[in-house]
Amino acid sequence: MNKQLIVGLFLLASMLVQAQTCTDNATVISGKCTCNAGFYGTSADAGQQCYKCPSNSNSSTDSNTGISVNVSACNTCLPGYFLGGKAKTDAPQQAATCSTCGTGATTSTVGQVLQTVVNCNACLPGYYMQTLQTGNNPAICAQCPPNSTSTQTTSIGFCQCYDSLAAPLSAQVSTCKCKDGYSGNVATQQGGASGCKISSNSLILTVSAVLLAFLAILI
Ligand SMILES: *[C@@H]1O[C@H](CO)[C@@H](O)[C@H](O)[C@H]1NC(C)=O
Ligand SMILES: *[C@@H]1O[C@H](CO)[C@@H](O)[C@H](O)[C@H]1NC(C)=O
Ligand SMILES: *[C@@H]1O[C@H](CO)[C@@H](O)[C@H](O)[C@H]1NC(C)=O
Ligand SMILES: *[C@@H]1O[C@H](CO)[C@@H](O)[C@H](O)[C@H]1NC(C)=O
Repeated sequence: MNKQLIVGLFLLASMLVQAQTCTDNATVISGKCTCNAGFYGTSADAGQQCYKCPSNSNSSTDSNTGISVNVSACNTCLPGYFLGGKAKTDAPQQAATCSTCGTGATTSTVGQVLQTVVNCNACLPGYYMQTLQTGNNPAICAQCPPNSTSTQTTSIGFCQCYDSLAAPLSAQVSTCKCKDGYSGNVATQQGGASGCKISSNSLILTVSAVLLAFLAILI
């Protein structure tokens, strides 16, 4: 093959690739350039534009790209936000109004057009639930104490210390310390080695107990 042919083929190939490329924040879905979730636009083809959904609203790729699409395609709220007001489809069009669930609180459901404060019923990882969601109030969540963590939850509870030999956290215990009979420094990260060692006092007690039991058997 001569050089010109190679260059020509290369140009043709890059044109084909180019033809398939969509605008920013878009991907090809079922052969059609589509704005990503969280964006909207009348066309997602190269040279067109996908706009970001405003103020914590979200959109679905099912309905966010097309000739009559407008900001009202942003009709759901991002996780951690609930729907304060529905999107408005007639002029002036508006995105969903999204209100925060509050510090550490989040929605256990995502992408619902009717996501109300009732959906703010979970606490994020690293938080624990102090009060369940009730009426018009989101769940109340508080940050885990140092050296402990949690997974996302929808029930009242406490965080877990990283150290498996720490006393469990509770209404009475709010700092991670080695449990009774153990002393030392608790693990400071998830999966970190335990720094709690059986204390010499309890070791002596254990050894004495074993000796006493042994004597009892002999007698
Ligand atoms: C949208 O596209 C722009 C330009 O490529 C990029 O900077 C931005 O990070 C994208 N936004 C998201 C949320 O992906
Ligand atoms: C805006 O979008 C909504 C929802 O897709 C649609 O019903 C309405 O006709 C659109 N408005 C215009 C002016 O295209
Ligand atoms: C936005 O909504 C889409 C469609 O429901 C969903 O797939 C996506 O995860 C949502 N975005 C975020 C950040 O949760
Ligand atoms: C975490 O545990 C370590 C080891 O016990 C301790 O020194 C440190 O003070 C704890 N962190 C906080 C912020 O309390």
